[in-house]
Amino acid sequence: MDDPACDPAALDRTYRYFRPINAVVSGWRRVYVRHLRPHLSVHEPTTLLDIGSGGGDVPRALARWAARDGLRLAVTAVDPDERAHRYVTAQPATPGVEFRQASSGDLVRDGETFDLVTSNHLLHHLDPDTLASLLAHSAVLARRLVVHADIERGRLAYAAYAAATWPLARRSFVYDDGLASVRRSYRPHELAAVVPPGWDVRTQLPYRLLLVRDVTDATAREEARHA
Ligand SMILES: C[S@@+](CC[C@H](N)C(=O)[O-])C[C@H]1O[C@@H](n2cnc3c(N)ncnc32)[C@H](O)[C@@H]1O
Repeated sequence: MDDPACDPAALDRTYRYFRPINAVVSGWRRVYVRHLRPHLSVHEPTTLLDIGSGGGDVPRALARWAARDGLRLAVTAVDPDERAHRYVTAQPATPGVEFRQASSGDLVRDGETFDLVTSNHLLHHLDPDTLASLLAHSAVLARRLVVHADIERGRLAYAAYAAATWPLARRSFVYDDGLASVRRSYRPHELAAVVPPGWDVRTQLPYRLLLVRDVTDATAREEARHA
């Protein structure tokens, strides 16, 4: 799906399939309950930026959960890929979610900030320099907390994903690209070895990594700004 010349119908189906796949494998409900919901309020609006939103299902789910809990959350979801932007803006709108075609670097250049910053399945896509930039961007963009969620590489994760998505292999990129993602993803100690100080690697069952940074400390934000 990273190939700009890939089949657009298969790409659209891939974005569509991300929703049930993320619902089963990504554990975002737990991330929302444990890490994000404690920052939300009935009275004060909280802003959240989702970086690399792809098919948009994770930011839409976060906005729906907050609304169901009666909490005020304004979600901005960005992805520079014009095909992703075309897909998400062709879907029915979700109240509380704004999709923008932009990269994390664009937002830093514009001086924007958000209370909370998240991403899903982004870290393993990035080479070391781009990962360093993304982490610096997210620490500058966040006023309170960053949570980057990704796959934890593992044989069982690979086998289970292969078995579950094999039926979709011919109609989308979910099978081949998903397995490549599992192969490229980190084990906890590998991720801990490549991130700068201040980032905390946590695991979540099954086979999930969370890279978390609390930026409420002014020193942490200042360090990130100069990283
Ligand atoms: C594998 S997709 C993940 C999509 C979605 N988060 C999900 O879980 O289904 C990664 C996305 O990140 C986007 N991306 C990569 N670097 C980015 C950056 N610096 N800022 C915003 N988006 C970025 C890519 O265009 C791609 O669509």
